[in-house]
Amino acid sequence: MPDKISKVDMEKIVSLCKRRGFIFPSSEIYGGLGSCWDYGPLGVELKRNIKDAWWRAVVQERDDMAGLDASIMMHPQIWVASGHVEGFSDPLVECKVCHLRWRATDLNGSSCPDCGGELTEPKLFNLMFKTFMGPVEDEASVVYLRPETAQGIFVNFDNVLATSRKKLPFGIAQIGKSFRNEITTGNFIFRTREFEQMEIEYFVRPGSDEKWFDYWVQERFNWYLKLGIKQENLRLRRHGKEELAHYAKDCYDIEYLFPMGWAELEGIANRGDYDLVQHAKHSGKTLSYFDEEAGERYTPYVIEPSAGVDRSALALLIDAYDEELAEGETRVVLHFHPELAPIKVAILPLSRNEKLVPLAREVYTKLRRYFMMQYDDAQSIGRRYRRQDEIGTPFCVTIDFQSLEDNQVTIRERDSMGQIRLPIEELVKTLQAKLSGESFATQPLWTAKTAEASE
Ligand code: GAP
Repeated sequence: MPDKISKVDMEKIVSLCKRRGFIFPSSEIYGGLGSCWDYGPLGVELKRNIKDAWWRAVVQERDDMAGLDASIMMHPQIWVASGHVEGFSDPLVECKVCHLRWRATDLNGSSCPDCGGELTEPKLFNLMFKTFMGPVEDEASVVYLRPETAQGIFVNFDNVLATSRKKLPFGIAQIGKSFRNEITTGNFIFRTREFEQMEIEYFVRPGSDEKWFDYWVQERFNWYLKLGIKQENLRLRRHGKEELAHYAKDCYDIEYLFPMGWAELEGIANRGDYDLVQHAKHSGKTLSYFDEEAGERYTPYVIEPSAGVDRSALALLIDAYDEELAEGETRVVLHFHPELAPIKVAILPLSRNEKLVPLAREVYTKLRRYFMMQYDDAQSIGRRYRRQDEIGTPFCVTIDFQSLEDNQVTIRERDSMGQIRLPIEELVKTLQAKLSGESFATQPLWTAKTAEASE
């Protein structure tokens, strides 16, 4: 294994993302737009892989979960019922000298960080984006861009219950864009005004909520470990009473050690029956559950694991990044879990020699039905390996002159840089086995017991 030589910082990640086509500043040719980012050819693959891994874990591989894709704009009364119109605000302060604006809680009582000027008294600022539906721009046509996907789930509780034939406990999962007019954004894609969430609302019988809350905290923590995030970079933090959102009985954050410090990756909240009760009250519809076994009707309690796609992408990029000394030179490598790697396999003919190209193209065409691939024949083979290391491609397949004789090719593994030679007809099977994780180290999963032992 090559030696690690350097620590990651945010600038290196931003620069790699731009240079290699993961993430670009939005509207760049017009000078950019504050805190908005575009996912490029590799970023879009990474994001899709994160969402697919989540969906597989929480929907596909479970019997107690159903999916949903609710619309972004919803009836404005939903946000009155949920408490967002009244309470989804941050205290805004403005520097009287330079007129920069800050979230008061980010300043911890200090004066304006840039110029030291006096600050105004905090004013509450609602974080929801407003727009108008239809041709008339008046109060009656105001709609909001959803600040969380969760409410789309609550208002569809009855629809999903009636059509999916699920019994409690069961959950509804949704992935989608959310929008918040954040006062302070920053740290690349960590806090932006447009972002994507992966949310579960898990409905349980009141009284069993604490058990399910613990279950989901553990389940979600382990999801990040399974994706290869190092355990020492993850921790759980329970919210203090004063910190709990208006709807929450209890809440844990899964935090990641970002270059700027520990920060929230995902929140898991016990929302009690707050949302269903509120929507029943405001809509006049019954939102409850008839428990056939117990012979009683009640309003379910809700456990909500709520994750950010963009924050996961950032944590996974940072965690995977290494600079290593290999074969006498520095290589930058993203040690992505194979499930997340944007490109799974690269085909590298030793040269552009006309004898090699037909076989290389043939192998490429054969494999691309199975894997997201790249074909690269530009520059030396060493440089091409480095390019693939830098974007996290787990395997490179090299076709050389010997391949023309014996129909064998070389697979080179990203992490160990080890190579094996094998017949072309065994490539698909071998790569499938390797990509399914056979050759990638897994770490022990988290349990309440291991957490106690480490305290
Ligand atoms: N429904 C509950 C809810 O929305 P939250 O803690 O406000 O809870 C959940 O958001 C997750 O969404 C966060 O843990 C984070 O990953 C992501 N998120 C929230 N605001 C974000 C922002 N401005 N930019 C990027 N991701 C954000």
